[in-house]
Amino acid sequence: MRILIAYATTEGQTRKICRFVSDRLVAAGHSVELLNVTDAEGLEPARFDAVVLAGSVHVGALQPELIAFAQAHADVLSRHPVLYLQVSLAAAGQDAEEWQELREIADKTVAGFGWRPGRIEQVAGAFRFAEYDFFKSWAMRWIASQHGQKVDPKADREYTDWARLAEAVDGWAATAADRR
Ligand SMILES: Cc1cc2nc3c(=O)[nH]c(=O)nc-3n(C[C@H](O)[C@H](O)[C@H](O)COP(=O)(O)O)c2cc1C
Repeated sequence: MRILIAYATTEGQTRKICRFVSDRLVAAGHSVELLNVTDAEGLEPARFDAVVLAGSVHVGALQPELIAFAQAHADVLSRHPVLYLQVSLAAAGQDAEEWQELREIADKTVAGFGWRPGRIEQVAGAFRFAEYDFFKSWAMRWIASQHGQKVDPKADREYTDWARLAEAVDGWAATAADRR
């Protein structure tokens, strides 16, 4: 299949996740275009058979440019097999309330798309202290401590479960190929 991976990222973890997804799909024989949604001018999503959309949660919301992209191409995307990856730190934990919030954030986000992706996956992200300014670094250390995590602000801490992500991507790609 020809697959478009369109993402938004603030600190870079979603880009890393999408590169991993791209490598995986290419290794399975698909052709892939990996695109930051801020660079989507002139893109024709109709050229693709399936689409992966990805973005990350910041203060309870996804990047507006991801929502704008999904909305702008609603006509085509709503007819394609789409996997939506929502990256967050809450997805690294087991807190039932936080998971409920993640589902609500996803619902609000796809309401903004104006159409519903066939598959939605919550993906654990990372602390990326190298990308934070002083205030963000302080806030993120506080959030970590609230979750009983001790983090070293001189080192990034990644929670992404690559094996689980690979399984989700493989499963989605198989059903997307069947739909063609
Ligand atoms: C300022 C800020 C706010 C954040 N807010 C949330 C949040 O509300 N819920 C959550 O689960 N994760 C939150 N995160 C964690 C990010 O979703 C996580 O670090 C993710 O890996 C970021 O992906 P990106 O590097 O692609 O932007 C926040 C991170 C930052 C820096």
